Amino acid sequence: MTTAVATDGSGAPAGPLLELEHLQMLFPVRGGGPGRTKLYVHAVDDVSLSLTDGETLGLVGESGCGKTTLARCITRLVKPTGGHLRFRGDDITTTGPRAMRRYRTSMQMVFQDPQASLNPRKRVGQIVGAGLHLTSGGANRETRVRELLRQVGLNPEHINRFPHEFSGGQRQRVGVARALAVEPALIVLDEPVSALDVSIQAQVVNLLGDLQRTLGLSYIFVAHDLSVVRHVSNRIAVMYLGKLVEVSPAEELYRKPIHPYTVSLLGAIPIPDPTLSRERTRRTAKGELPSPIHPPTGCRFNTRCPVATDVCREVEPPLTLYPGGHQAACHHPLNVTAGDLTGAVRSVQSPLSSGFDLPTEAGVEPSGDGPATA
Ligand SMILES: Nc1ncnc2c1ncn2[C@@H]1O[C@H](COP(=O)(O)OP(=O)(O)OP(=O)(O)O)[C@@H](O)[C@H]1O
Ligand code: SF4
Ligand SMILES: [Mg+2]
Repeated sequence: MTTAVATDGSGAPAGPLLELEHLQMLFPVRGGGPGRTKLYVHAVDDVSLSLTDGETLGLVGESGCGKTTLARCITRLVKPTGGHLRFRGDDITTTGPRAMRRYRTSMQMVFQDPQASLNPRKRVGQIVGAGLHLTSGGANRETRVRELLRQVGLNPEHINRFPHEFSGGQRQRVGVARALAVEPALIVLDEPVSALDVSIQAQVVNLLGDLQRTLGLSYIFVAHDLSVVRHVSNRIAVMYLGKLVEVSPAEELYRKPIHPYTVSLLGAIPIPDPTLSRERTRRTAKGELPSPIHPPTGCRFNTRCPVATDVCREVEPPLTLYPGGHQAACHHPLNVTAGDLTGAVRSVQSPLSSGFDLPTEAGVEPSGDGPATA
């Protein structure tokens, strides 16, 4: 069974597939703070975003910034603590388990570690076929499982094997086949290739691309570095300490990163030219990710940003929408022209807690090590 698709009369789906509006996921800290004050881990904090049919959104940020939590909110493996989540226009933020069943077939998740996410005591046929009773393929289960295994490049004759009899890359293909079994519209891929050998990563990424073209799937592709998502994403969202700091058409992000944090992430991608490589390394963010229990005031990146000024420590920058659909939340944006600044508006997806003033001049490229102290 798949969720009925609302159409605009021409047969094409109407509106976005997925919408996040000020979505929030706070985890209470056991025991709280001094004097029993309630403390929370701000894992996902006021994130707004939308995704259309057939689109791939790359979601990138360093470890602990909230990518998996956001992925789990979107697929409703956890219930967000604030904001709204809509799937084809239906608000599913707090939908209970029984009513969620009809959406479970439309949204699937593929996990980072195929070893841990597949039941070692079940045969691959059982794992892949587990959700088939929810779909039209349930009637002829074995035929459908064999077809799914073929579709992900596995030998259908291996239907009775156990997960440990496959290689890492093959196990991830099993995870993809399990997700495909219920004919989803959206698959959230949480670092699907991070645990695989580099030589295998490209094969799995290519498979995902082929499946998307054949089946018209939408993907949210989570990764911790920007090199993995470059060739698979239509747009890329960069996340820092629970917030989205930049959302851009994919190629533009690599050509013209606006947010200093994105610049630092790009600096972490190895490049063969030693001079360019040294220059990039100099711009990489220094220090540790601050605690998500006590995130910095103003811009959350201010404690590590080489071009931070006083306003950055006081006012949270709004997401600014630049011409061409590029959004970034920074008071001192990099790589923007006077024309970009004139055409900029406050994005409707800005966090509720952010200020209103838009940047008026381009930021200065970092020239030395460590945060500026202006
Ligand atoms: N169930 C939970 N209870 C309390 N805190 C949590 C829980 N799940 C995640 N967190 C915290 O929320 C923050 C975001 O974690 P999350 O796993 O979403 O990050 P991530 O970006 O996926 O990191 P990684 O790249 O390491 O997978 C972290 O500080 C993490 O410790
Ligand atoms: S310049 Fe300011 S607003 Fe922009 S990323 Fe740095 S600290 Fe944040
Ligand atoms: Mg994660």
